[in-house]
Parts: sequence; structure tokens; C-alpha cells
Amino acid sequence: MKERDLSQLRQEYAAGGLSEADLAPDPVAMFRRWLHDAVAAGLHEPNAMVVSSVSADGRPSSRMVLLKGLDERGFVFFTNYGSRKGGELDANPACALLFPWHDLERQVRVEGEATRLSDAENAGYFATRPRASQVGAWASPQSAVVASRAELDKRYAEAGARFGEDGVVPAPPQWGGYLVTPAAVEFWQGRRGRMHDRLRYRRVSTGSTSVGPDAGSPWRVERLAP
Ligand SMILES: Cc1cc2nc3c(=O)[nH]c(=O)nc-3n(C[C@H](O)[C@H](O)[C@H](O)COP(=O)(O)O)c2cc1C
Repeated sequence: MKERDLSQLRQEYAAGGLSEADLAPDPVAMFRRWLHDAVAAGLHEPNAMVVSSVSADGRPSSRMVLLKGLDERGFVFFTNYGSRKGGELDANPACALLFPWHDLERQVRVEGEATRLSDAENAGYFATRPRASQVGAWASPQSAVVASRAELDKRYAEAGARFGEDGVVPAPPQWGGYLVTPAAVEFWQGRRGRMHDRLRYRRVSTGSTSVGPDAGSPWRVERLAP
């Protein structure tokens, strides 16, 4: 595609709307519904999300990971704790997630804090991974500069040989998951004329004095201008 064509690329969004009445009481339940829709629609890698972290000097960076767990606590993904993102999240847990569900004219934005999962949780999930991925987790010093593809292939062969053909591959100490506890979750639905629907759950301190149907909920819902 020629670069000047980019300015002409635009899509009219008409798939549907999102109203306050459509919302689940909490953002994880709401996210579960939309994830279900994304799976049912046959989207490619519906659990792929962008994770953004921030370096010690305040510079953001983003990369894709796969959502591998979801419960009332929040969103879970697995990675190498020694990677760039691992170092940044350990030093500054503030992070953002983005689910880009273009074909449904939807996106979900999450802002929150990342904490490491326990060794037991990591071992439990690692055991379910395909063997080739398990060996790869031992072989790859994720985010480090490497001399060549040949060096990576050698590391992979060595790691495979170390555990034998059928031996159990334990979780590497530097590999594991992060739980992202949400402080805000925005559900975005494209609408005609760029008048999109944006509804954001924001965690407010519990014990707030609010009255009405949301009283006692730690979540406040706000509509944002598109
Ligand atoms: C669709 C997709 C899914 C990915 N899933 C993961 C994942 O679950 N965990 C992971 O560590 N990297 C995953 N990656 C690779 C990351 O995008 C990234 O290259 C890697 O984690 C290193 O990032 P960092 O150097 O910023 O730490 C995925 C990449 C793509 C394109």
C-alpha cells in the first residue's frame, strides 16, 4: 500500500451500540461477555492484547502478549521475568492493556498494576504448555541481544538435550505470570459519524457515601466523549 493511501483508509462503524443498561455490574464480568463475543465471532487470537509498561525514566513501550487467565482479581499473562517488560513491571507496576477487536468494532482498555503470580501458580500453568514452548522458555534469554539465529538454535538444542526426550521440563525460575489488577476498564464500541460509545469503569474507594443502585460497588461507571 502506498503511504498516501493511509489518509483515505477509514471505516464507518455501524455494528452496534453500548448503553449503560448493557453493562455487567463489574468490569471483569463485562469483559468476559465481550471476550466470549470475540471467540464466537472467530477472531484470530481473540486473547491477544497489547501490554504497555514504563521504564525507570518514564518512557513507555508496548508489545503483544496472550491473556491466559481471567478471574475476579484481574487479567493474567505469562512471560520471562528477566525480559524488558518484566524488569519494567517489577520496578514500576503501573501498566496498561489493550484488546484490539477490530472486526467487532470494539476495543477494551485496562489500566492497573501488575504483580507476579506465585511459584505454585507458575508451575501449574507451565506444566500445561507444549513441550517445545517449555524448552524454548529455558533456551531464550528474552529481550537480551543475541549474536545470531545460530546461537539461539544452539541454546534450544542444548536445553532440549538437558531434559532428555521425555523428561519433565520444570518451570524456569525466570519465567512466570503477572496479574494485572484493574483500576479502570473502558469498553469502546464504534458508532456512526465517529460518535462512538465509551463506557469506563473506574475503581473508587470502597465505603464511599454514594447512594442508589451502585451503592457499595467499588466501581463507578462514566461515559466518555468519543
Ligand atoms: C500475538 C502475539 C502473542 C504473544 N504472546 C506473548 C506472551 O504471551 N508472552 C510473551 O512473553 N511474549 C509474547 N509475545 C512476544 C512479545 O510481543 C514480545 O516480543 C516479547 O515478550 C518481548 O517483549 P519485551 O522485550 O518488551 O519484554 C507475543 C507476540 C505476539 C505477536
